Parts: sequence; C-alpha cells; structure tokens
Amino acid sequence: MGLGTWYDRVILPKVISLGCSSEDVDELRREVVPLAKGAVFELGCGGGFNQQHYDAAAVTSFAGIDPNASLLEAVRARAREKGWEADIREGVGEAIPFGDGAFDTVVCTYTLCSVDDPAKVLSEMRRVLKPGGRLLFLEHGKAPDPGPAKWQRRIEPVWKHMVGNCHLTREVGGTIRKAGFEIEPIGQTYFDKAPKWAGWMEWGVARRAGV
Ligand SMILES: C[S@@+](CC[C@H](N)C(=O)[O-])C[C@H]1O[C@@H](n2cnc3c(N)ncnc32)[C@H](O)[C@@H]1O
Repeated sequence: MGLGTWYDRVILPKVISLGCSSEDVDELRREVVPLAKGAVFELGCGGGFNQQHYDAAAVTSFAGIDPNASLLEAVRARAREKGWEADIREGVGEAIPFGDGAFDTVVCTYTLCSVDDPAKVLSEMRRVLKPGGRLLFLEHGKAPDPGPAKWQRRIEPVWKHMVGNCHLTREVGGTIRKAGFEIEPIGQTYFDKAPKWAGWMEWGVARRAGV
C-alpha cells in the first residue's frame, strides 16, 4: 500500500470530518441543502454532513457519489436513519454514473475545490439535471481581495497534497456561469474564524441557462 493510499484511507477522512463539520459550515449548509427537492443527486457526498439538512418531505429519492470509499459508509448509515432508499456509489464527478436528465436537484458542497476537472464535472452535473433543474452549491474558493488571493497562490501547492486535492484558487461563481448555468446568488462571505486565504465562501442556486 502506498503512503498516498494509506493517507487517503485513514487520515484524510479525519481531516475532512474536522473541516466539514464545524458550526460555521453547518450554518451555511442550512441556507442551501433544505432547498433540495424531488429526485436529488449529491456530488462528493462523502461523510454525509449534508444529510441532516435535507427536507425529507421534499426529497423523493436520493443518490450520491464520492470517490473515497472510506467516506461512503457514513453516508449510507445516515440515509438509512432517514429511512431513504438511497443509491450511493463510489464514483467521480467527471463521469457521473447516471442518465441524462435524471435529477431535479444536484447538490454540490465543498467538492468543486477537490475535483480534477471542474469544467467537466459541471458539464456532467448539467447533463444529469432535468430541464429546469437546479444545482445548489456551497463552495470555498478564490478570494476577491489581492492580499488573501496572493496567499492562496502561495499555499495551494502544499495544501492540495495534504487536503485531498483541495484547491484554494478556483473561482466559484465564474466557473459555474462559464459552464452554462445562470446563478441566483444567495451569499458570499469570509468566515470570521478562518484565515482569509481559507475562508472565502460562495453559495447559491444555479439553473441550466436557456432552459
Ligand atoms: C472537502 S470534502 C467535502 C465533502 C462533502 N461534500 C461536504 O460538503 O462535507 C471533498 C469531497 O470531494 C470528494 N471528491 C474528490 N474528488 C472528487 C471527484 N472527482 N468527484 C466527486 N467527488 C470528489 C472527496 O472524496 C470528498 O468527499
């Protein structure tokens, strides 16, 4: 077993749990995740941190993928607790294993930072959405101010190796728009308790443009 594999299997889930389960992060999840309705697909569902925020009465089916198998059991357990028949698979957003127009809602939180190819993943999320379907997103990304943005460029080369390919310098809203979505922004802010280079958050609702 290579060090990378051991790190990804044993340490990385703990790092992700620590970063993704804070009260600040939960507050933002509450702005986005309860908007999900109908047939829901969650990209990068590992850890299951969004599960408690879904409005169970509005969700008719739930599917999710994540490439880190060590994180999937927690998602399955949380879905079982909700009484959902959930289809949760190992997989990557660059090749979503579901058909065109399969979902009313795609949920993507703190995942576009970590994928290999954000443009491909966004085009896949667009493909699996029904016409009129919505992408609910909550991501951290490139800070709008030059000071924090400079630190993001400096820190990212080391950071991404320690934190599961997490990038600090990716634009959130701009990248989503470029992929053919129209965005109704809900919010953007720096987290008070994080350094600015790690704490720029954007969240909102995106619809397939032209539909
Ligand atoms: C920071 S964690 C966020 C987990 C969860 N989405 C949340 O909001 O708590 C990033 C997640 O993206 C997943 N991921 C990394 N590369 C991916 C890819 N190419 N496609 C889908 N998910 C990916 C990781 O395995 C991990 O679960």
